[in-house]
Amino acid sequence: MTTATPIPVRSPLSSALSGTTTLLIGGSSGIGLAAGVLLRSVGGRVVLVGRDPDRLKAAVSRVRSAGPAEDSEDAVLAVAGDGGDDKILAEAFDRAGQVDHVFVTAGGISGAGPLTGLPADDIRKAFDRRLQATFTAARAAATRLPAGGSLTFSSGILVVRPAPGMTAPLSVVGAVETLTKALAVELAPARLRVNAVRYGRIDTPMWRSRPGLDSDEAMAAAGSTTPLGRFGTAEEAAAAALFLMANNYVTGQIITVDGGETLN
Ligand SMILES: NC(=O)c1ccc[n+]([C@@H]2O[C@H](COP(=O)([O-])OP(=O)(O)OC[C@H]3O[C@@H](n4cnc5c(N)ncnc54)[C@H](OP(=O)(O)O)[C@@H]3O)[C@@H](O)[C@H]2O)c1
Repeated sequence: MTTATPIPVRSPLSSALSGTTTLLIGGSSGIGLAAGVLLRSVGGRVVLVGRDPDRLKAAVSRVRSAGPAEDSEDAVLAVAGDGGDDKILAEAFDRAGQVDHVFVTAGGISGAGPLTGLPADDIRKAFDRRLQATFTAARAAATRLPAGGSLTFSSGILVVRPAPGMTAPLSVVGAVETLTKALAVELAPARLRVNAVRYGRIDTPMWRSRPGLDSDEAMAAAGSTTPLGRFGTAEEAAAAALFLMANNYVTGQIITVDGGETLN
């Protein structure tokens, strides 16, 4: 094992999630899918939401394979559609019966480019695309989760270490972090918790689909500049979300999972 080889995740407090149901909005790939696998492996029930039906189907098989061989159909459910659509989320909550936790990884970023060259419409779309899914999840969670439930959002470290040409996407993700804190205060009387994970570079299809990063060698080289010398795994990224779901006294927090990248 080299210093850059990940150690498999043994999630803290994972048994607290046994028998709970988690809605994974963006559960068909990357960090959301890894969360599904971890949750199912500790006896959690999961509902996956994603737009591409084929990718969703493959994800259901993957998550199912993390549970016991005699798993019931009900242990892993899937709803195909846009997580920013109220009807899709209503369907997901209805099919689940009860949902205890919601983890949102849906909604990539758009609207990159220098501000002076950005059409107003691109800026509007950047906000709509990400915040639609975020607020739809927030509204559904606020009305449907039982006391003790939690909602976890995803963010990224560029919010605190901005790169040029990212004003629109980073303002949007900054809004997700602000919503996390504002909603945590608003929902605390209902005993609901709201947190976010701020990710550094995590090895998921989102990165591997980028030009020049479609091989292990290229990913290893790209990750070597972080203090821990590698990209994080999707499983490591997902484990942080499980921690936030399981700990009943953490709310309004943004925790960073970045291999130390923001220390440089
Ligand atoms: N990976 C990283 O290094 C990194 C770093 C910083 C922040 N993040 C953030 O972490 C989150 C997860 O990233 P990831 O790397 O796991 O991405 P990913 O592998 O691309 O997975 C994204 C998932 O979300 C689903 N999705 C996207 N838009 C959706 C929508 N409108 N409705 C329903 N499902 C939707 C996708 O499926 P469909 O496309 O089929 O819908 C897919 O299942 C993202 O918000 C990303 O911005 C990631």
